[in-house]
Amino acid sequence: MARARHGHPRDSRREARNAVIAGIAVLVVGFGLMQAMPYGRDRTAPPVTGEPTWSSVATRDLMVRACYQCHSSEVKYPAHAGIAPTSWAVQWQIEEARGAVNYSQFATDPGRADDTIEVIRNGSMPPAYFARFGINPEAKLTDAERAALITGLEKTPGMSDSGERGDGRRRD
Ligand code: HEC
Repeated sequence: MARARHGHPRDSRREARNAVIAGIAVLVVGFGLMQAMPYGRDRTAPPVTGEPTWSSVATRDLMVRACYQCHSSEVKYPAHAGIAPTSWAVQWQIEEARGAVNYSQFATDPGRADDTIEVIRNGSMPPAYFARFGINPEAKLTDAERAALITGLEKTPGMSDSGERGDGRRRD
C-alpha cells in the first residue's frame, strides 16, 4: 500500500494560504453574482388608485409612517435595501405586504384593510422585526400614537369588520 507522502511544512502552509485565498475569491464572486440577480432591483410601484378616506391628516401621517413602507405604492427604499441579500428580503416583504393590503389601491382593491384596526390593536403590525433591524425605526409607534391612530381609523371607513366593510358597497 502506497502511503501519501507528507510534504514539507512550508508546502502545507502555502496550501492553507491558497485555500483561504480561493475561499475569499468564491465569496467575492458569489457576492457579485448576488448583486447581479434581478430580484430585488425592480422598484416599479403598482399604480395609486385611491386611498381610504382618512378621517384626518394626522391619521394619514401615522399610517404613512408606520405602514406605507410596506403597504403602499409609495415605498421609500432605505440605502441598504439596494444590496443583496437584504434587497431580496425587502422586496419579498413588500410583495407580501401589498398582497395583503395596499392602501394606495384601497379604492379598487381594499384587500385585508378591514383588519387594519385589529392588527394595530393586537400589536402584530407594524411587525416587530422591522424596528428591531433598524429598518425605518420611525415606524415604531408610541402607545399614545397607537391610541390616536386607532381613534382616527375608527372614523375612517373600511378599517374594521364592524360597520362599513370597505368593499366599496357601503361607503358613501
Ligand atoms: C415591514 C413591512 C410591514 C409594515 C411596516 C407593516 N406591515 Fe402589515 N403586513 C406585512 C406583511 C409581510 C404582511 C403579510 C403577512 C402577514 O400577515 O404577516 C402584512 C399583513 C398585514 C395585514 C393583513 C393581516 C391579516 O391577517 O388580514 C394587515 C391588515 C396589515 N398588514 C396592516 C398593517 C398596518 C395597519 C401597518 C401599520 C400600522 C402595517 N401593516 C405595517 C408587512 C408590513
